[in-house]
Amino acid sequence: MREFPLTLNRFIIQSQASHQGATGEFSSLLTQIGLVGKLISEDLRRAGLINILGTTGDTNVQGETVKKLDALANDDFVKVFQHSGYVCALASEEMEKPISMPGNWPQGKYMLLFDPLDGSSNTDNNMPLGAIFSVLKYDRADRLPTEGDMIRRGTEQVAAGYLLYGSSTMLVYTVGEGVYGFTLEPGIGEYLLSHVQVRIPDKGKVYAANEGNYNKWSEGTRKYVDALKVSDKATGRPYSARYSGCLVADVHRLLLGGGIYLYPGEADKPEGKLRLLYEANPLAFVVEQAGGKASTGTARILEVEPKKLHQRVPLIIGSRLDVEQAEAYIQGRA
Ligand code: AHG
Ligand code: MN
Ligand code: MN
Repeated sequence: MREFPLTLNRFIIQSQASHQGATGEFSSLLTQIGLVGKLISEDLRRAGLINILGTTGDTNVQGETVKKLDALANDDFVKVFQHSGYVCALASEEMEKPISMPGNWPQGKYMLLFDPLDGSSNTDNNMPLGAIFSVLKYDRADRLPTEGDMIRRGTEQVAAGYLLYGSSTMLVYTVGEGVYGFTLEPGIGEYLLSHVQVRIPDKGKVYAANEGNYNKWSEGTRKYVDALKVSDKATGRPYSARYSGCLVADVHRLLLGGGIYLYPGEADKPEGKLRLLYEANPLAFVVEQAGGKASTGTARILEVEPKKLHQRVPLIIGSRLDVEQAEAYIQGRA
């Protein structure tokens, strides 16, 4: 007889049972993230057939072209969570301002920040995509959260994770007690536990970076990436380059196999490209929980003091020793 698989729902109910005072609200929130993942992956499976490829003609708050799938994925998140009673505020890459739940609706105690679709340049060519989420707790009962209440350091996240729409759909998350991964079994529409307490190797052999930007990088970053290409048996170099254009997919690869992802600052864009609150922070929380590191090059991502909802940050993330070595080059110590 085959072993009974552990579904996401059963896993969270079991984990919740070991937490005193847990109300079940958090478990429901994660289940709803899973639901968003099912909705989006169903659309993606048919994307070439149902006129959802291409752009909407709009530009988002980041000044980037909005793909139809960006808008659709954002709508799915909002529809699932608005009025759900699980959250009191939502903030997204695709929305200039957060949404606060109307006062006459049930208020959850969590605030959800998300990148509804990560890797948008991959939408039209059947390449991997993802979504990233960060969960903060809101403790005040006297008023609804404001935008300022959502602008918190990464260390204050109570949970974070991502959905990966690759050859299979996965939900990977942490609540600060290690990292768990679930794979969507399409036949039964359930997420089944597939990765228990993921540990990222201390060192890898793969680097992911958009090297087209090489000439815009700082000297230290350039030297680091140059060094990865020099043959040296003892340190496993040269490293292999793997860059998908989807941060989630690249981070997922290195979470399982080790290595480093870099989206550094550039001469005319020192703040880098990626967003702190709903890209870098949640992935940093996951990777740290798996034993890895996430850095701006000079500081721990999770300790960066955020000033703006859509703030950008340079991101260097992955295996502990690889990130430390990149920091040494960037800081001129190597
Ligand atoms: P998004 O699709 O949410 O805007 O994020 C795209 C991000 C990230 O997924 C990826 O690693 C990076 O941008 C790719 O940027 P380049 O095309 O500049 O390499
Ligand atoms: Mn993104
Ligand atoms: Mn996005």
